[in-house]
Amino acid sequence: MASALLRRASFAPVRPASALFLRSRVQHLQLASISSSAILRSSFWKDVPLGPPDAILGITEAFKADEFAEKINLGVGAYRDDNGKPWVLPSVREAELRVVSKKLDKEYAGITGVPAFTKLASELSLSPSSPAITEGRLAITQSISGTGALRIGGEFLDRWYPHSKEIYIPNPSWANHKVLFTDSGLTVKQYRYYDNKNIALDLDGLLADLQSIPDKSMVLLHACAHNPTGVDPTPEEWAKIADVMRSKGHFPFFDMAYQGFASGDADRDAFAVRFFIEQGFEIALAQSFAKNMGLYGERVGTFSIVSETPEISKAVESQIKIVVRPLYSNPPVHGARVAAEILGDADLRAQWLEEVKTMADRIISMRSLLKSNLEQLGSQLNWSHITSQIGMFCYTGLSPQQVDTLRSDYSVYLTRDGRISVAGVTTKNVQRLAESIHAVTK
Ligand code: LMR
Repeated sequence: MASALLRRASFAPVRPASALFLRSRVQHLQLASISSSAILRSSFWKDVPLGPPDAILGITEAFKADEFAEKINLGVGAYRDDNGKPWVLPSVREAELRVVSKKLDKEYAGITGVPAFTKLASELSLSPSSPAITEGRLAITQSISGTGALRIGGEFLDRWYPHSKEIYIPNPSWANHKVLFTDSGLTVKQYRYYDNKNIALDLDGLLADLQSIPDKSMVLLHACAHNPTGVDPTPEEWAKIADVMRSKGHFPFFDMAYQGFASGDADRDAFAVRFFIEQGFEIALAQSFAKNMGLYGERVGTFSIVSETPEISKAVESQIKIVVRPLYSNPPVHGARVAAEILGDADLRAQWLEEVKTMADRIISMRSLLKSNLEQLGSQLNWSHITSQIGMFCYTGLSPQQVDTLRSDYSVYLTRDGRISVAGVTTKNVQRLAESIHAVTK
């Protein structure tokens, strides 16, 4: 606006000169420039402080700005092939061709998304024979990937959870959980999850905390491939967790962002979710296809709630729609159509499950390679957790200071909690990575 004022002043038509006219014109210009700088100084946003970079996505920004050719990005959890490049799954490429060849229209999906997709997605997470599905007790909506699903869940629970406004998340948890639920209006508290000393699940601490928190609390559980620790409960441990949750009347909200990535087997990774439903729990579930289909930027996911009866489910679904409509109206269709094409075609689905296994297996082999490289370098530290942890991440135990040195002196990028995305490790960079880690830990 200020420059528009100045432009208008300088292009005003010049009339025959007189001393008086020139003086008033100079005054006019001065006034214009005073008022324009006054406008600039009174910006609505002048008190907005510079925010910190995102704990995870900020690492990618810093990595991109680094000009060192051999830099290594182990920050964001995104799969890379052995050349360090993103991998578009061949099953996804094929599904895209099929979707495009159908020449579908680009009409709005309903508020809850593409029905063929949400149906198949729920069958993947819960299994087609799940009582939640066969008995009509599932309310599901397509979501803007896993984060969007969690956010819809947060908003729904804030409005309708009858017993409290507190949600308990594991300590540690994915960096976005806390802020996401806080922004939804909930108060975020933590329960013990990880035993730093033994680099394992702190089962006793976890059970004790679930026992001591108020009855009927909301509890967020990572369904598999816990982020950031890579430490999951065993089926027996899940049974113990379910026992406490049942006796205390807690409500489980599962975040399942990595189905298939933990073990390479999508059914096995869905164990906890299916087990809780079998045990008669009402649950909430956030499901993402970012990692297991590599549909990161397509933002494909679901949010669902399993309720006691079909009638309750109908009411829940109606309220989910009321949450979604003012948020983004309805979700994008392309990624959901691609996912539905894969899940709905027996051959393509089998191919995709093989590809998920390929990704999981490459990560597992990089874990072994990193560990053996560190041992060959003579590191005296115990690195057994690199191979005992599962999923995309390894919780290395590196301190924030060591992480900072890795970044400043070795151009190795990871989150400050010491988490590395093992997907960023390749046969080409593993030796330099091991040397860098060894250098900061000896
Ligand atoms: C991660 O933890 O790196 C991923 O879930 C990506 C993200 O959005 O943080």
